[in-house]
Amino acid sequence: MCGIIGYVGNKEIIPILLEGLHSLEYRGYDSSGIAIHEGNSLNVVKAAGKLNCLEEILKNNGTKNGKNGHVNCGVGHTRWATHGEASDINAHPHFDRDEKIAVVHNGIIRNYQEVRENLLKAGVHFVSETDTEVIVQLISYNFKNSKSLLHAICTSVNELDGSFALGILFKQEPDKIYAVRKESPIIIGMGENENYLASDSATLSLFVNKIIRLGDNEIAEITKDKVKLYSFKGEEIKKSPQTVTKSNDFLDKKGFKHHLIKEISEQADVISNLLSNHLSATSKDKSARVKLDYINLNPDLLKNIDRILILACGTAYHAGLIGKFVLENLTGIPTEVQFASEFLNTKSLLTKKSLVIGISQSGETADTLSAVKKAKDTGTTFVAITNNPHSELANLAKDHLLISKAGIEVSVAATKTFTAQITMLYLLAIYIAETIGSKKEKSLDLLKQELRLLPQLIDQTILRAEQYQEQVLKYADKPDFVFIGRGINYPIALEAALKLKELSYIHASGYASGEMKHGPIAVLDPKVPVVSIVVPGETYDRVLQNSMEAKSRHAPMIAVAVDGDKKADSIFDTVLHIPPVIEIASPFLTVIPLQFLAYYIAEHLERDIDQPRNLAKSVTVE
Ligand code: M6R
Repeated sequence: MCGIIGYVGNKEIIPILLEGLHSLEYRGYDSSGIAIHEGNSLNVVKAAGKLNCLEEILKNNGTKNGKNGHVNCGVGHTRWATHGEASDINAHPHFDRDEKIAVVHNGIIRNYQEVRENLLKAGVHFVSETDTEVIVQLISYNFKNSKSLLHAICTSVNELDGSFALGILFKQEPDKIYAVRKESPIIIGMGENENYLASDSATLSLFVNKIIRLGDNEIAEITKDKVKLYSFKGEEIKKSPQTVTKSNDFLDKKGFKHHLIKEISEQADVISNLLSNHLSATSKDKSARVKLDYINLNPDLLKNIDRILILACGTAYHAGLIGKFVLENLTGIPTEVQFASEFLNTKSLLTKKSLVIGISQSGETADTLSAVKKAKDTGTTFVAITNNPHSELANLAKDHLLISKAGIEVSVAATKTFTAQITMLYLLAIYIAETIGSKKEKSLDLLKQELRLLPQLIDQTILRAEQYQEQVLKYADKPDFVFIGRGINYPIALEAALKLKELSYIHASGYASGEMKHGPIAVLDPKVPVVSIVVPGETYDRVLQNSMEAKSRHAPMIAVAVDGDKKADSIFDTVLHIPPVIEIASPFLTVIPLQFLAYYIAEHLERDIDQPRNLAKSVTVE
């Protein structure tokens, strides 16, 4: 989704804004622009397309970098189109009609048509199709009757309905940026005699190690050596900065062709780190219980939990489905998983005895935040799993926070954060089971032992990448794929279909394998490969049987199966082998060849792997 960067300080400004914009590219965008104070005016430059289009214009039109040593001030923006196509005119920043105020915006203005109509009646002229333009025109309109721009901003944001993060420049205040937050994330970075503004802490970590998260309904006035915060009523607020680790290498692909393949390859290390942080090295130590540092769940409270509800979207939802399986298996507590965007209906089912788990890589997904806030209003206990400790989800979780510590994931499609999320769900399930005594210590010890083996097994699977590449490329011309799995590998079928769609734009569906014969089997023919996840265990025979039904319809047959599975070798046209693994731990391995399948087919089709069309990394609108 849209990204915002801002800078005020003595350094040359354009290189900083462009560096910030490059770091925000992963969020997904289709146009970009900057606004800077230049001489006595505000200079706006913007372009549809990727950042190189903006860079080309900046190179050719003589826009100044701002002199070193002078106060330079400006904002930059990457736009992911919502209202109006990706065009130069619709790109941000947007001006008011007098070109005195420039605004960049991330989010959505729900009542923009109403506001626009009122402004049109008052004689305001609009040039773009965006909802953003109403913000700047409204501030400008209200400024006529205001004692200051801050006052006009306060009046205006109270008239707007929606979610918005804003960066605002005002011609008459050339050394100041105003930032506004309502729901959509915006963070201030604090340096020595310079301050920054960005949509995420990763971007700020390129420049500074101190940040202030703007809270909901807050406004900041940022100059090079001061940050003042206000409520939407204009009352001053005090907040202390948080520390972030300065990091300027997360955009480095470290020799890999794409961030995605780098991130797939990091999974063994990510899981190894998480396990060593939370699980002792051996089960011999009887006190070797799972340790979850930021979880402060009272054992009496846990013993009373009668229902778990997991809320998430996309890949995080698939992680939640695996979590349901493990939580029910280990704790016996009925667990339900809901798309966060569908939560509206079940609010009444939550009580003080429920446990709600919100999962979000970014911690900023609007659907997830909105559902979690509603759930929290019921007084339920809430645990968050996120990869972003500085996110709003982390903020909402306070005492019950699980950080998935996968490192920044730059590729839009989630891979390493998925396996990190499921690691945290397994650890949480063991933690609850150990606390409430729902499972024998011996069987928990066996599971922990299997988990400890995972990093090595994942490593061995990743080493087979070239073999998988050769095996899957012969299917790259197929227009449709069907993925099937059962039990704990049904969510992997869903995740594999999502990955293939996102990366290659090939249509794909995931099904519980038993459901095939209830309808989806109608689509099968020699052009539609069926990919079956067949892991030894309770589901094995039935998935094989369902696969045979597909084979009889002449579908090309692919399997993910363990080494030495002779039955699978004889039935399927192609077998993507993984090392032997027990069923309950198998999703960590079965997903990997399917991540590679999606990657290699997409690469073969020359897709934009790290930033697939139409997608955004952090979906900050509902
Ligand atoms: O940041 P979140 O985990 O909340 O994001 C949820 C989904 O938007 C995300 O998983 C999406 O489905 C990805 N594109 C998956 O690759």
